[in-house]
Amino acid sequence: MTAPEEHPDVILCADGPMLVRGDHVIQDAEGQLHRTTRPISAVCRCGKSASQPWCDGTHKVIPKR
Ligand code: FES
Repeated sequence: MTAPEEHPDVILCADGPMLVRGDHVIQDAEGQLHRTTRPISAVCRCGKSASQPWCDGTHKVIPKR
C-alpha cells in the first residue's frame, strides 16, 4: 500500500491545469456540475480552454508573463 502523499488526489501543474485523480464533481463558475469520468482529469486553470471546465491544451500557446 502506498502513502496518500505519493499519489495525491490533486496536482497543480505549473502554468497548466489542475489534475484530479479519481471520481470527483467539478463545479464551474456558473455553478454547473461536471462529473469526472477518467482516472485522471485535467481542469483548466488558465480560463482559455474551449472545453471548460476541462483543459484542452490551449494554455501551452499562451505567452508567459
Ligand atoms: S489550463 Fe490548459 S487550457 Fe487552460
